Amino acid sequence: MGMFVHAFEGSWFDHPFWRSNFRIETSEQLERIRNSGIEGLMIDPERGIAPSDGRQPSKGEASPHRKLSRSWGRPRPTVSAARSTRVFAQPDPEDRAAPRPRRGYVGECRRAKRTIDRTRQAVTDMFEGARLGRAVEVKRMVKLASAIGASIERDAKALINLVRLKEKDEYTYLHSVAVCALMINFARHLELDPQEVEDLGVAGLLHDVGKVAVSDAILNKPGVLSKGEMQSVRTHPVAGHRLLANSAGAPDLALELCLRHHEKIDGSGYPGGLKGDELSLAARMGAICDVYDAVTSNRPYKRAWTPCEALTEMKKWKGHFDSALLDRFADSVGIYAVGTLVRLSTGELGVVVGSAGEASEDVVVRAFFDCDALAEIEPVDRAVAPSAEHPRIVGRDSPSFWRFPDWDALRHRVLAAKVAPEDGEG
Ligand SMILES: [Fe+2]
Repeated sequence: MGMFVHAFEGSWFDHPFWRSNFRIETSEQLERIRNSGIEGLMIDPERGIAPSDGRQPSKGEASPHRKLSRSWGRPRPTVSAARSTRVFAQPDPEDRAAPRPRRGYVGECRRAKRTIDRTRQAVTDMFEGARLGRAVEVKRMVKLASAIGASIERDAKALINLVRLKEKDEYTYLHSVAVCALMINFARHLELDPQEVEDLGVAGLLHDVGKVAVSDAILNKPGVLSKGEMQSVRTHPVAGHRLLANSAGAPDLALELCLRHHEKIDGSGYPGGLKGDELSLAARMGAICDVYDAVTSNRPYKRAWTPCEALTEMKKWKGHFDSALLDRFADSVGIYAVGTLVRLSTGELGVVVGSAGEASEDVVVRAFFDCDALAEIEPVDRAVAPSAEHPRIVGRDSPSFWRFPDWDALRHRVLAAKVAPEDGEG
């Protein structure tokens, strides 16, 4: 009570206030924040009271803004106290073209690399054992999924960015690690129960284990598969499900994901041809994470799409995914399809115009509106690196909130504008 809220993290949809700039003065306001599911917000200790640890920004920390991060509602015990008082530096306009990696990101990449190596080895062993008819050591997979979950808890982007970069010959094993990481991150974003988060991580590691029933020559074949080869590939969900059913301790969600990750929302998937409400949340999440990692990885027959290209294309596929859930997935990875309205940490609104380069996870956002001045500005293209502190995408925003009279026309005009890239260091 008495703190001044400078901004909420994440999407405008997720917070229950018309304004994100105000002092918390009533217990009703406090309750609404606590019950909203918002995970973090920035406060301005110069306009309201500071956090109770009494820590003031040091000389190097010019910003009056503090980010508070805690979980409201459901307990999430591993959110560290240190993170909860993290101070963000006030953006220097000169720095806008040179995004700095977030503190801790580089260190977490080193830790994540070790976790990935360890998991890849274990997944390779698991596939080899399964090929020889051995049951899956579920306990080992649970340990690995929980190490991946811990890395994501510390910094979600580090492990997810690293595991996307696969060599062609390590796809099968690293794909399992990637789907595990994406599922955990997605499940946390959806605020699922901690046990479900862990089970979905294990499910990600195990979802393709039925591929041991398909020959490597078919799995790695460049070009189009014959009808017979396609039929062979299509056996892997049922084969994997059978294998897990015979492995002690495999979570129900792992069996479900294994069997259903190739179903599509319009009923055209396999093996069951289930559609709409017949598909569980795990199946819908799994279909998204599985395809997202597949298309953002280099394959024998296709270069990888960038994350932005992948989300843009996946949004166009009619009948494949649960489209509302696909939007939530985009929010969970902080990467948005071309044409999405987003708010930037610069205080501007922009439209995502594309990837910043081939194979790059960076995106270009065309800023066209100043949220403080409530006015359009000359459009400018800002390169946004997901690992950078600034500029960064704060979240998806709502055209109706800003009362743009004809959003489609405005978006079209912004996307069609001739814009010079912002000045940078080269
Ligand atoms: Fe699969």
